[in-house]
Amino acid sequence: MREILVTGGSGFLGSNLCDALLSRGQSVLCVDNFFTGQRSNIKHLLGRTDFELLRHDVIQPLHVEVDSIFNLACPASPVHYQYDPVQTTKTSVIGAINMLGLAKRLGVRILQASTSEVYGDPHVHPQSEDYWGRVNPIGPRSCYDEGKRCAETLFFDYHRQNNVEIKVMRIFNTYGPRMHPNDGRVISNFIVQALRGDPITIYGDGKQTRSFCYVDDLIEGMIAFMDSPGELRGPVNFGNPHECSMLELADRVLQIVGSRSKLVFKPLPQDDPIQRCPDISIASSELEWTPKVQLEDGLRETVAWFRHTLEP
Ligand SMILES: NC(=O)c1ccc[n+]([C@@H]2O[C@H](COP(=O)([O-])OP(=O)(O)OC[C@H]3O[C@@H](n4cnc5c(N)ncnc54)[C@H](O)[C@@H]3O)[C@@H](O)[C@H]2O)c1
Repeated sequence: MREILVTGGSGFLGSNLCDALLSRGQSVLCVDNFFTGQRSNIKHLLGRTDFELLRHDVIQPLHVEVDSIFNLACPASPVHYQYDPVQTTKTSVIGAINMLGLAKRLGVRILQASTSEVYGDPHVHPQSEDYWGRVNPIGPRSCYDEGKRCAETLFFDYHRQNNVEIKVMRIFNTYGPRMHPNDGRVISNFIVQALRGDPITIYGDGKQTRSFCYVDDLIEGMIAFMDSPGELRGPVNFGNPHECSMLELADRVLQIVGSRSKLVFKPLPQDDPIQRCPDISIASSELEWTPKVQLEDGLRETVAWFRHTLEP
């Protein structure tokens, strides 16, 4: 049985990845410092012999024996990564150095959960991997954006300098069960507000668009990328190219929840991109990966999960 290290394994994506790897017969070492990860996400795995949990901060070196590494540790939502921006940069940069050092020592493959935020507020739509981005280096989001950019640099330098087998995945907005209810992301915000009958907060005029990928599609892509031939190092975009405005999203959520919440409009946060949409031609041509879950179906699953989780 192959032992797979998942850093950030108790988070939203990490815990869904742990489930998927275990269901494929692999054994998982989940490493997390529980900054944003929740025990409830992995509670159902704790008694299994093929699952191990280690409380550890990736800023510290890690000495374990594994067969491959998925490096997901890093808070992903602005409220969380801006809470302690220095720690966020350290997690991305020092965490990457530690995990790459481990991959180098063990001679194993490592995948980095990078982000569409490396494109910043892009001048090019949709964003393809050869676009270098337009990132503010000194703003409140920079700890995350620049931390992730530096992590990508480290991945490619460890590959060039030390021949480490790398996979760099640029993840666009993903949603689904186990999102943190207080992460301030638009889908969780809308669903929680609608379920509680609170007003739905729209930033700006609500015409800005985002594309949303359902978590099962994303995790399938992540595993397919990890298992792909070594020459495909990336970066590779993963996301759903179908764009949806915030107003349209609010409308769908209200309908699915059956809520009569009103919409309230607030100013756009600083550096918030107006449009973000992935070009996924590399993932589709090289991995035959395209997202399959329709927004409506994914939202229904997510609403059902939040409804159950928020029940008193
Ligand atoms: N969810 C998305 O839409 C999205 C989009 C782009 C990129 N990503 C990336 O995917 C990864 C997972 O995102 P997520 O949405 O699951 O976020 P999340 O916050 O739910 O999960 C991150 C996990 O990392 C853990 N963590 C944070 N700092 C750590 C540290 N120093 N040491 C050990 N563990 C630490 C957290 O406790 C949490 O369990 C992140 O690297 C994120 O940047 C996610």
